[in-house]
Amino acid sequence: MRTISFENGDEMPMLGLGTWKSAPGEAHEAVTTAIEVGYQHVDCAPIYKNEAEVGEALTESLDAGMADRDDVWITSKLWNDSHDPKHVRPALEQTLDDLQLDVLDLYLVHWPVAFERGVDYPSSPSKLVPLDETPLTETWAAMEELKAEGRVRHIGVSNFNVPKLQLLQEEGRVAPEMNQIELHPYLQQPEMLSFAREQGIPLTAYSPLGSYDRPDSMKADDEPTLLDEPTIHEIAETHDASPAQVLVSWALHRDTAVIPKSTTPSHIQQNLEAAELELTNDDMEAIAALDRGYRYLTAEDWTVEGSPYTQSQIWDE
Ligand code: A2P
Repeated sequence: MRTISFENGDEMPMLGLGTWKSAPGEAHEAVTTAIEVGYQHVDCAPIYKNEAEVGEALTESLDAGMADRDDVWITSKLWNDSHDPKHVRPALEQTLDDLQLDVLDLYLVHWPVAFERGVDYPSSPSKLVPLDETPLTETWAAMEELKAEGRVRHIGVSNFNVPKLQLLQEEGRVAPEMNQIELHPYLQQPEMLSFAREQGIPLTAYSPLGSYDRPDSMKADDEPTLLDEPTIHEIAETHDASPAQVLVSWALHRDTAVIPKSTTPSHIQQNLEAAELELTNDDMEAIAALDRGYRYLTAEDWTVEGSPYTQSQIWDE
């Protein structure tokens, strides 16, 4: 398995198991299967509401000798209700407790958006806290402390655009060591990719298969279905692979980490095997032509009228 190297020599396996939308009762088996077939990276977050289950499965797998703790990379994320520096440490402690770990490999600020404490999803704009009240730089300073104390090995962000990455690069003591963002053939984000490469900030691709299992409330009526894309199917046929495998392999060919979610054992196995799939330059060119700047995850509930956040402020600026 190819890895992303960090300055201190740590290596993050580039393909991990995604756990967003892994339902209670299913996440456990998914993680167990993943470790059994050889995954060395699991991507988690408290807002997925399954960290305790993931933690149980991890502990059981490690106790059963299926893997060593040092051979499994665990990422988790700080939810939007815990941006206030005094809430950062308790949020991490809860996550470590749920995951049954002493230390996280990577801890990410989940969104550049702050909520009131205790809010999972804001029911009204008043539950959103403007960034000038809880600046990202202050949240980041609390993340830096956790790293300095060794409670987390690396710190990064998710859903950050270039100006927000630059802000932390300029104001922080530690530059972000990861940006986890939506990346797939319909949303290729070439400017972010070249900025990140230039700056040495690794990227992780989320929703690499188009996250078709999102709740209907998070779906646009006319959204394109990535797993049905004819070009992806054609390429898959030429390699005797599945469309999902082409999508995973495409992400790896762009040197991004990738975290396909699955709770179906055959998919979990198949997605891992995609690391062996070699795409040709022609394949990559054909996929490059599919970009349509299409976001499946728009964060639109947080940019409703009256919110301190707007779509362009979150994504473009
Ligand atoms: P399942 O959990 O049954 O495997 P994303 O990673 O973009 O969020 O996409 C997750 C969706 O893709 C889920 O609906 C998941 O279903 C499905 N999926 C994951 N792996 C595969 C695969 N190899 N083939 C087809 N669908 C897959």
